[in-house]
Amino acid sequence: MVADQVLIFETTLRDGEQAPGASMNIGEKIRIAHQLAKLKVDIIEAGFPVSSPAQFEAVQRIAQEVDGPVVAALARTVEADIDAAAEALLTGKKTRIHTFVGTSDIHLAAKFSDDRYGRTLGDKREFVLEMVDRAVRQACTITEDVEFSAEDAGRTGIDFLVNVIDVAIQAGATTINIPDTTGYCIPREYAALFKTVRERCKNIDQVVLSVHCHDDLGLAVANSLAGVLAGARQVECTINGIGERAGNASLEEIVMALHVRSQLFGTKTGIETQLLTSTSKMVSTATGFSVPPNKAVVGSNAFSHEAGIHQHGVLKSRETYEIMRAEDVGQAPEAIRLGRHSGRHGLFSRLGKLGILVGAERKEQVYQEFVSLADRKKEVFDEDLIALAQGKKGDVTTAHYRLNHLSVNCGTGRVPRAEVLLYHSSSDTSCRKTAEGDGPVAAIYKAIDMAAGSRHGLVSYAIRSVGEGKDAMGEVTVLISEHGTLFRGIARHTDVLQASANAYVQALNQLEAFRASSGEEFVSDGIMQSFGSDGGQDQ
Ligand code: KIV
Ligand code: ZN
Repeated sequence: MVADQVLIFETTLRDGEQAPGASMNIGEKIRIAHQLAKLKVDIIEAGFPVSSPAQFEAVQRIAQEVDGPVVAALARTVEADIDAAAEALLTGKKTRIHTFVGTSDIHLAAKFSDDRYGRTLGDKREFVLEMVDRAVRQACTITEDVEFSAEDAGRTGIDFLVNVIDVAIQAGATTINIPDTTGYCIPREYAALFKTVRERCKNIDQVVLSVHCHDDLGLAVANSLAGVLAGARQVECTINGIGERAGNASLEEIVMALHVRSQLFGTKTGIETQLLTSTSKMVSTATGFSVPPNKAVVGSNAFSHEAGIHQHGVLKSRETYEIMRAEDVGQAPEAIRLGRHSGRHGLFSRLGKLGILVGAERKEQVYQEFVSLADRKKEVFDEDLIALAQGKKGDVTTAHYRLNHLSVNCGTGRVPRAEVLLYHSSSDTSCRKTAEGDGPVAAIYKAIDMAAGSRHGLVSYAIRSVGEGKDAMGEVTVLISEHGTLFRGIARHTDVLQASANAYVQALNQLEAFRASSGEEFVSDGIMQSFGSDGGQDQ
């Protein structure tokens, strides 16, 4: 069977950007458009030129500067909109005009309420048919690639939907989009629309049928796939599923569903799937919309296994609990996350990968200590395991340092300054230091370093909000390194500067605990540290 190509119409920069709070600047849009070209989407909908000068510029520059995909501009079925789209696309190489009008009774009644559009619903429908005819013909004088969308098709009476599509095809449209604008349909209904349209519309086999689904009921991807099964050969979607209200169908989920289940669909896409995760991150950074860890395909947990049975399974054979390879979507392979649900296989495999081989006589003891630690911590990190295997009973909170006082002075026009009082348990002394920095966190970290007299590298600093509203806490995760070994500190506090300081002191305590133990002889303890081991411990 020769697989049919499903065209990927990417609308992050148009419908995606309509998500409240997601607006992107021109530089970000161009960067994303280049990334979408590398991802090999077929069409980039770059914006809605008539709606603002910024949208116009985005379409114009993307059409000019981005090679590969067709660049589409959105326009209502109105002459001025199509003129604006035409002008924005003027210097583009491969261009499309995408014109749309609301077709459901609800849209007709609301948008065409004035009597000049006709007095009855029937009159208003006639008016819309004429608009569609005129607009599509106008668009065809500019480019031979013209898409027509019957907005709110999901709630449009089937007879009028067939009429309007007939008119658009007759006028020269080459792609017909049947959007579920309000995310109202369920997959069976949405598929039935395509079936009826294919049966009743004239010359339907001469156009590409397209799905465009919103996620108000969480069905955007399911509906899109139902549309493909019913004959659609273009999918309109966005990276991370961002878009109006609950969003659009997510590109990465649709592409991987078509990829993983290609036998079932009998279709293929041209997408470079290994770029899905980096593209998702780029869009998340540009919009400020974080990707939930459990997000399908691109979430940080999408290929992580914590439960013991799952870890055992994937360590033996990935297919037991994975239907696609992490590498195929640009994620790191085989993420075994150690926590309270993990078992022996996960633990000893991870220790093996860290170069720590645990002798048979010590395994049960190390495992029991791991279980007790995992009960106390959300996730057990590598440094915890190192401490545990060294016989520290996972006592990762050994407080070499304690922060007894923190004050920060910063504000407009002031150089941020921090003062800390750090207690050293080894000498039972405290050290007070003051430092300035580019920002308050830099000042705090400098003051703590001075008070601790410690030299190490800062690898990363991340902050996220936990909870909502005024009670939300800042959770800070900080990674420091010494000679290539990483030490992590995590702390939560309603005061994010306090959380930043606490996380840093915790990481320093990890480092001190490691320094204190690094001279120990593991072999005599039944534990052997052998760097370069391929791990693969089993039991
Ligand atoms: O959701 C919708 O109907 C749209 C159209 C403009 C295609 O975004
Ligand atoms: Zn939409």
